Amino acid sequence: MKVSPKSTIAAIVKAHPASARVFESHRIDYCCGGGQALEAACAARGLDLAAVVQDLERVLGSPAEEAPPDSLPTPALIDRIVRVHHGYLREVLPVLEARAAKVARVHGGKDARLEELDATVRDLSWLLLRHLDDEEQRLFPGILALPGQAAADDAHDGCCGGGCDAGEASGALELELAGMEREHEAVAALLERTARLTDGHTPPPWACTTYRVLLADLAEVERDIHRHVFLENQVLAPRVRALLVGAGGGR
Ligand SMILES: [Fe+2]
Ligand SMILES: [Fe+2]
Repeated sequence: MKVSPKSTIAAIVKAHPASARVFESHRIDYCCGGGQALEAACAARGLDLAAVVQDLERVLGSPAEEAPPDSLPTPALIDRIVRVHHGYLREVLPVLEARAAKVARVHGGKDARLEELDATVRDLSWLLLRHLDDEEQRLFPGILALPGQAAADDAHDGCCGGGCDAGEASGALELELAGMEREHEAVAALLERTARLTDGHTPPPWACTTYRVLLADLAEVERDIHRHVFLENQVLAPRVRALLVGAGGGR
């Protein structure tokens, strides 16, 4: 299939989830920076647009691996985020922390950057685990409660026309969404730092097995977070904002 250089990165990944692999291989940001057109994203990274388009068309010519996220109803989308991505992070982050600490302790004398890597992995883990809890305890329940908002408004008509609570609820939800996006940017900055400190997750020739596994896991965590944040920033958040605007302050 043909890919237009004018299409945004987010639109391409939404329609063809397999394209995420191509963007990852070229280190093109498709989650926080997904609003950029393909040609602009390639120019910003000094990439050959024709080569990237060719890679995309090759991958998109193969059978799709999973349903486009846009086709999922919101509860199923949230379920996929929590089950697949939150579940993975809760499992892997404590292991990563322990490995980064061990590698810094054992090999810190050979490469001073390993101490900073250890601190960065701890910061990443702390930020992410708190972030997952916030999404599961506040943001996602707020989104899933949206369909019931109209009934609540009807019951509330007697005192103030139903607008005040709905407006407060949608304002609170918008604040939660904006907070989520800010934390995604902080996570992206920490991932960039881990990539920089590890020469793009490349082990030195003297690296032991633990060190190599740590770098492989960090690379996998980065790939998974890009997919995860893409679903939240580019699929879920626009859908929720459209509902809030369409309902004039509540669904
Ligand atoms: Fe999440
Ligand atoms: Fe998130």
